[in-house]
Amino acid sequence: MLGLRALLGIGFLVTSRGGGVVCHRGACPLVSGSNVLVKDCKRHQSSIMAQPIKYLGQEEAQRIDEELFSEYCFSVDQLMELAGLSCATAVAKAYPLDSLVKATPSVLVVCGPGNNGGDGLVCARHLKLFGYEPTIVYPKRPNKPLFQNLTAQCEKMEIPFLAEMPTEAAVIDEAYNLVVDAIFGFSFQGAVREPFGTILATLKKATVPIASVDIPSGWDVEKGSSDGIQPDLLISLTAPKKSAVHFRGRYHFLGGRFVPPALERKYQLNLPPYPGTECVYQLP
Ligand SMILES: *[C@@H]1O[C@H](CO)[C@@H](O)[C@H](O)[C@H]1NC(C)=O
Repeated sequence: MLGLRALLGIGFLVTSRGGGVVCHRGACPLVSGSNVLVKDCKRHQSSIMAQPIKYLGQEEAQRIDEELFSEYCFSVDQLMELAGLSCATAVAKAYPLDSLVKATPSVLVVCGPGNNGGDGLVCARHLKLFGYEPTIVYPKRPNKPLFQNLTAQCEKMEIPFLAEMPTEAAVIDEAYNLVVDAIFGFSFQGAVREPFGTILATLKKATVPIASVDIPSGWDVEKGSSDGIQPDLLISLTAPKKSAVHFRGRYHFLGGRFVPPALERKYQLNLPPYPGTECVYQLP
């Protein structure tokens, strides 16, 4: 576990040797030589000097999102693809195929009515490519070509869509290894409308792990929710939101490796260095 965490960039295998503190080869992704002294390790230097990663408020998250589309000329489907890929990758790292207890690698992906739901559809498609067997619940579908296309892509990938969410938590626990919560994202405000209130009540009773995309659905984006769902995995996209300090699950990943450095500097995001070509970074 320590080795994996170190490879993911959240820790270093450090030992003391003859007075000098040594960073072992392999434990520190930016170091190629063996047993480099910590003071000579680039990765350690940057982590010692780095400011802590910023936790975004709701308005700031919205401003960054708008700027990616206006100033930085990205399209929604581009960033949604990378966000969804990050989510599927984080799921595969937290719940590897060979660790699943059920006979089939089943995953229930619950998609909401907005862009978070779109991330969920992309996540389901990549999970299928990774060897999982996703099933989608998508009760409120926007009448827009982007979402219609993402839905068609999943159908053509032979991913089943349930007509409705099972209302018994026991049915979910029985059939699925985990649930991906892609219901509401960082623009969520106010009251939860049906059918999502009932869906969240069911998810609260389920005992299988929940993986939440960007925000645990139903939580206040900044303040969290002590009596809401309690995901086991949180994938923070672009940067964590303030509510992530209340996350009590086992795995917190950063994803959405698409932030241009100038935008990162402007908002002082202080993002940690993603290791190598990884599209996710496991936060401590
Ligand atoms: C949706 O797919 C159609 C092709 O079936 C394509 O012409 C259109 O540009 C796509 N729209 C979006 C928003 O991706």
